[in-house]
Amino acid sequence: MKKITAALLCVFVLLAFTGCGKDTQKTDDYSFHSNSTQSNPSQDSTGQNNTNSKQDGESKILIAYFSRVGNTDFPDGIDAVASASLIVKDSELYGNTQYIATLIQRATGGDLFLIETENKYPADYDATDKQGAKESKENSRPKLASHVENMDGYDIVYLGFPNWYYGMPMAVYSFLEEYDLSGKTVIPFVTSGGSGFSNAISEIQNIQPDAAVLSEGYKVTHSKASDVTFEDIEEWINGLNK
Ligand SMILES: Cc1cc2nc3c(=O)[nH]c(=O)nc-3n(C[C@H](O)[C@H](O)[C@H](O)COP(=O)(O)O)c2cc1C
Repeated sequence: MKKITAALLCVFVLLAFTGCGKDTQKTDDYSFHSNSTQSNPSQDSTGQNNTNSKQDGESKILIAYFSRVGNTDFPDGIDAVASASLIVKDSELYGNTQYIATLIQRATGGDLFLIETENKYPADYDATDKQGAKESKENSRPKLASHVENMDGYDIVYLGFPNWYYGMPMAVYSFLEEYDLSGKTVIPFVTSGGSGFSNAISEIQNIQPDAAVLSEGYKVTHSKASDVTFEDIEEWINGLNK
């Protein structure tokens, strides 16, 4: 009798383990993570939400951007109309890239982050142009004054910048080299005088080889940036390769 009970117990334990194994084969249903095998980082081994808490199946989103506004001490009453790089909406001054970033923030509910340099750029456009040229030529890495508190907690990083000298402003290189974006989806957006991304998307991928950098980035020329609507941005986001 003892032998039969022991045998039944063994069969029960075996079945229980086989069943458990099946339950751990969870599918990854993050909308932007079709090529990622990363597990849900919002849960620890006890299944409790940790400090980067988010709803099940929801990705945590960062919108990081560089723009002239936020990186320049403009005098009060600056004439936005006279500058190709400034927008005024509801009496607020925006940089072109900053404006697109705020629309993405509204559409996604993500966290907005300004890539801010320690040293401000000159208010005079031509002087900034010269400084940008110098930084690009010298391949410099401007020191940053702002830092993302917990990059590990984000799954998706929208990364926006103006085209400076046929590529990214050097401050965006400083930003990209500061973090490890492995396993995250990076979605670039750019505003420019007409150059679009230039080589920026491949540059981002080179710096972050283990990030999934989407090639369907959003681009708009500076003369059209203020016409971009919330609906335009929503349509672009909904059409991204998920
Ligand atoms: C230093 C500097 C360099 C620029 N270089 C280029 C360029 O190579 N190609 C281009 O199309 N636009 C260039 N632009 C124009 C900006 O990309 C464009 O005005 C952009 O929308 C500015 O965005 P922001 O207002 O967010 O700073 C440059 C602007 C500056 C200030």
